[in-house]
Amino acid sequence: MAQRIIQDESVALEDLSGLVSLTALTSSPDQEAAYAALHAQWGPVAPVEIESVGDDVVPGWLVMGHQEMCHVMRSEAQFAKDPRTWRWNEEDLLPPGTAISTFAPAEPRPASFHHDGEERRRLREPLDDALSALDERRVREQTKDMCERIIDRMGDSGTTDLVRAYCQPAGFLAMTTLLGFDLETGGRLMTDSAKVVVGDGDEVAAAQGRVAGTILEHITERRAHGGRDLIAHMAVHPNFAHDGEIAASAVVPMHAAAIFLTAWITQTVHLVLSDPTLGARVAGGRITLDGALDEVLWRESPIAQSPALRFARNDVELGGRLIRKGDALVLSIAAANADPSVHTDDPWDQVDNRAHLSWGTGLHRCPAPRQARLIAGVAVDELLRNMDVTLHVPDEGLPWAPSPWVRHPARMPVSYRRATVNGEIDE
Ligand code: HEM
Repeated sequence: MAQRIIQDESVALEDLSGLVSLTALTSSPDQEAAYAALHAQWGPVAPVEIESVGDDVVPGWLVMGHQEMCHVMRSEAQFAKDPRTWRWNEEDLLPPGTAISTFAPAEPRPASFHHDGEERRRLREPLDDALSALDERRVREQTKDMCERIIDRMGDSGTTDLVRAYCQPAGFLAMTTLLGFDLETGGRLMTDSAKVVVGDGDEVAAAQGRVAGTILEHITERRAHGGRDLIAHMAVHPNFAHDGEIAASAVVPMHAAAIFLTAWITQTVHLVLSDPTLGARVAGGRITLDGALDEVLWRESPIAQSPALRFARNDVELGGRLIRKGDALVLSIAAANADPSVHTDDPWDQVDNRAHLSWGTGLHRCPAPRQARLIAGVAVDELLRNMDVTLHVPDEGLPWAPSPWVRHPARMPVSYRRATVNGEIDE
């Protein structure tokens, strides 16, 4: 397929019109076909609309090739995380009310997510240390307990939207529990975090303020009295210069993990309930829940695009495109996972194939795949063991969440009743 190469220096990203939006790609009923069409037109790196506000479009390059994505994620010298490198920030081009500024603010927050080099290392180490100090048996018990409480609140039987009733609170509250918050505080943080992540206009600053205040209070309390959660570990880490850095470093996993965990739990539950082959394989013990979680990472990556943008430090060629200094790159994990170069037709070669990029790769790779797998596994297992759930799919199919980043059904209408043992409700 001939690729149209933008070699003319006068054609900049912002000069292109009619770009497909990230949200349209993520929520497309046939996502594979949507990426394939884009790939056929542009090759492995395509111009896209990250977001639009009114008539203003925020453009970027969508990296879809597996090889190109590994290159970008591993080349800090060419592609920065620091959002000050983004031309739209540097030249103050972002329209007001832009949601992407949560992930790429004009002024980076003091968390590894927004930094490169030594500053990234200094800020990332405490999170890595705190995660490896977590007692995984305790995390399992806490997650199980939290899921049971959500299930109890659903009652013995009924109809509901399973995304709102179970998958979202399970994903979010698991994360706030890791950070050390009780469920009530976790519930309040969940409401505020949703406002921040979707960029809910005037509400964003107030919600951010409340989240920061709650975390700062918790840091003070943990430093005084100790504890076994992530914030207790970070509160005494020597790498941090002040509490603002600890709070910023706690906010990133809270937002990121909450949407990612929710998406992974939702997608796995959705596939098990809707794909008779997968459901039967799990129920029949021919595939473990762990295997089902992996299959989701491959087949229906919960993160379609990473909200962790990269910014070109200089003009550079990538996948046949000329990327200009200061341009933003969006990494499409779903497209890279589907890249034919990392698959074979032989099903045996696919067994345990973990070349997927669902955790990223390189210096900003997700620090918590073990903990995330543990939490998602417990959350899905608790639901399927305790409830008999039937998914009701309307003729037109389930709508996909309108997100530029994560792919999962926006709603899952179900009827459910408590699983029974010998005719008794399973307590
Ligand atoms: C306990 C749950 C989780 C925690 C605490 C967590 C934490 C984080 C943090 C702090 C980062 C930013 C790292 C940095 O920039 O230095 C990150 C990035 C990332 N995480 Fe996780 N995460 C969790 C769950 C997940 C899940 C469920 C997925 C996907 C299935 C995921 C995939 C990713 C990806 C793709 C990135 C960005 C990689 C990149 O663009 O370079 N995470 N995570």
